[in-house]
Amino acid sequence: MIRRNRILRQSGAIRSMVQETRLSPDNFIVPLFINEGTGYKEEIPSMPGYYRMSLDKTVAEVRLLWSMGLKCVLLFVKCDEALKDNEGKEALNPAGLMQRSIRAIKDACPDMLVMTDVAMDPFSIHGHDGIVRDARIVNDETVDVLARMSVSHAEAGADFVAPSDMMDGRILAIRRALEDNGYTETGIMSYSAKYASCFYGPFRDALDSAPGFGDKKTYQMHPANRLEAIKETLMDVEEGADIVMVKPALAYLDIIREVKNKVNLPVSAYHVSGEYAMIKAAAQRGWLNEDEAILESTLAIKRAGADLIASYFARDIIRLIS
Ligand code: PBG
Repeated sequence: MIRRNRILRQSGAIRSMVQETRLSPDNFIVPLFINEGTGYKEEIPSMPGYYRMSLDKTVAEVRLLWSMGLKCVLLFVKCDEALKDNEGKEALNPAGLMQRSIRAIKDACPDMLVMTDVAMDPFSIHGHDGIVRDARIVNDETVDVLARMSVSHAEAGADFVAPSDMMDGRILAIRRALEDNGYTETGIMSYSAKYASCFYGPFRDALDSAPGFGDKKTYQMHPANRLEAIKETLMDVEEGADIVMVKPALAYLDIIREVKNKVNLPVSAYHVSGEYAMIKAAAQRGWLNEDEAILESTLAIKRAGADLIASYFARDIIRLIS
């Protein structure tokens, strides 16, 4: 033998010297679920160890995350049932929970990057990401709301808006609306290749946003498709996205790699709620070592090509790598 590959694996020192992929606090986007009220913190039943919090508790959490070296949060709000409608009116309220949250977080921790979910589902009586007419999700009217929602988030101080709806033409509309309103420093992280996935189940529990009728297959993508993901992503690049995203992550590592090879923008991946729940559930039963499962899954997402990872495990990762 002239080549013995095990030479590079024989001690911790050499393994760490030749390690190709490394996780850093810089890689993570931390999703936060915000609720009305004060002093409120409730565990999400299908996401053990993850919480919905009122704004005061969220602000404290953001300060803690910053002190841990994390640099970016992604905000989701739980809208009161009474404020939901078909047009997403509450999503545009300058004094709405999202807008108040952006201001409070930027006031408390100005350097923390604040990204905001731009989608109608938490505000929709139908739990859909768009306006419903005759049991159909209408595209262009929805895009108009998404553009106005983005401007409203920018006005409140968001650093990036993150449209997660999968309507056609929304990135261009959002970019135009931001430009027209003078928000030339607001970024767009587009959920470019977002699949119609069963792995969003726990998230919909967290925000009480499950679709009331039908499913999301007329806008989110079929899990069988690869070329479509590339098409969607390249179009979002053309339309002005600053960061593109693949979602979910673990079941779509091939898509992450292919997108990474095809675009010249940072690529993010969303390690979603159901992927979190699977690891937690197996660990609770003693069937997996939780810390090892977290590290291995997250490393795999980065190795596949994700520059940024939205992850409910961000705090665990910081603990595990430090
Ligand atoms: C809604 C949205 C969803 C997620 C992020 N934004 C759910 C959905 O599309 O139904 C899922 C995130 C997760 O599961 O962790 N536009």
